[in-house]
Amino acid sequence: MKCFYYFKDKSRVNGQSSAPNLKYQSKSYTSEAENVIQSSSSAPSPRGLSELYEEKAQNLRVFKFSELKQATSNFNRLLMIGAGGFGCVYKGTIKPVDEKGEPFVVAIKKLNRDGNQGHKEWVTEVKFLGVVDHPNLVKLIGYCAVDGERGIQRLLVYEYMLNKSLEDHLFNMSLPTLSWDQRLQIVLGAAQGLAYLHEESEVQVIYRDFKSSNVLLDKDFKAKLSDFGLAREGPVDGKTHVSTGVVGTYGYAAPDYIETGHLTSKSDVWSFGIVLYEILTGRRSVERERPRSEQKLLDWVKQYPADSRKFGVIMDLRLENQYSLSKAREVAKLADRCLVKSPKDRPKMSQVVESLKQIVRLPADECPPAKDFEGIEDEPKEEKAIKQTGVSESAKRRMEHLAKISENVDGVNRRRFMIMQGAKVI
Ligand SMILES: Nc1ncnc2c1ncn2[C@@H]1O[C@H](COP(=O)(O)OP(=O)(O)OP(=O)(O)O)[C@@H](O)[C@H]1O
Ligand SMILES: [Mg+2]
Repeated sequence: MKCFYYFKDKSRVNGQSSAPNLKYQSKSYTSEAENVIQSSSSAPSPRGLSELYEEKAQNLRVFKFSELKQATSNFNRLLMIGAGGFGCVYKGTIKPVDEKGEPFVVAIKKLNRDGNQGHKEWVTEVKFLGVVDHPNLVKLIGYCAVDGERGIQRLLVYEYMLNKSLEDHLFNMSLPTLSWDQRLQIVLGAAQGLAYLHEESEVQVIYRDFKSSNVLLDKDFKAKLSDFGLAREGPVDGKTHVSTGVVGTYGYAAPDYIETGHLTSKSDVWSFGIVLYEILTGRRSVERERPRSEQKLLDWVKQYPADSRKFGVIMDLRLENQYSLSKAREVAKLADRCLVKSPKDRPKMSQVVESLKQIVRLPADECPPAKDFEGIEDEPKEEKAIKQTGVSESAKRRMEHLAKISENVDGVNRRRFMIMQGAKVI
């Protein structure tokens, strides 16, 4: 596995202190053009993030680099459990603070050496995760920051999530398939995490990087959001949005945010809609290896509307028909509401949570296999083939593609982007 971080700003970090430096951070934020537009609707935040962080920072443990080196047997590749745009993630074992009691397992994320952007994301993550607290958000145990002669070291220590990420389970063929009920519970948990960030925490948090790889799964497959490096405080003082450089991940970021740089909590709602379609279809938001008409998940699913008889065609074959078709239709309708063009017409995350709870409570029906899709007049040739053979060409291609993806962890890095406002995304 190769780790690298992909960013535009290559300017160097100069003389950082070993703890998250709030003064430095707030300066860099204000330089990010926080123009905002007046509105009378949103309530002002009583205290800002920095203030809350000052109050809660002592809950985080500050690790020595040597402790984390020892915890991971010198960052042994055999203990590497993942790699993303920020750096590599290792499984490690640390001692309790008072050295009494049993050592426990943690996940340690290590920033790749160079880069101001990496440092900024690290500070942002420490600040947000140091402040927020919810059962559907991953716990940050502590951090380590060293500025040595040989460069900077930035690490984060999290609770260990035994079942990796939703992405791993949806797309990595070597991991067991998630059942329909597990999928519903996972998206419900993730929605509750987002609703807390948007509507319940003392400072409004816009997550900005909601995607299946950032939904981690604990030993009971409970969903917890991770990766707060791109999070932002929501608009305050009656403003409708924060104006900012556009960062996020291809395939998940809301088109209005990409076009205008105007960030609101509804940008996260869009991304949530994409993940709803991922759990229905078992397909990634963008898959370049597919035929052109199927490469973009949203374009493809539009051909099979939730109310149509052909809707079942989009469902993940790995579910092996073990799902409720009526619930699946409701999930697709909810996804469509999250994916409307105008951000203000998208539901709030608390409304999404309510809809998902209702869907979970609906009486389950059986999903009749192919016969449910019979009699579709305008069905593409391939759908006819599915009925006749049980396996479509695209399904075969998908299996091959997914097998390839599971061998290639580096692939995720290519999807990450960081572009400045106004740039076009293709
Ligand atoms: N706390 C954790 N416990 C267990 N595994 C984790 C934990 N955090 C991350 N991982 C594993 O490491 C992988 C990489 O995570 P990371 O957040 O670095 O990258 P990513 O989300 O895949 O991509 P990106 O950098 O684009 O957000 C995750 O998909 C997951 O499998
Ligand atoms: Mg991540």
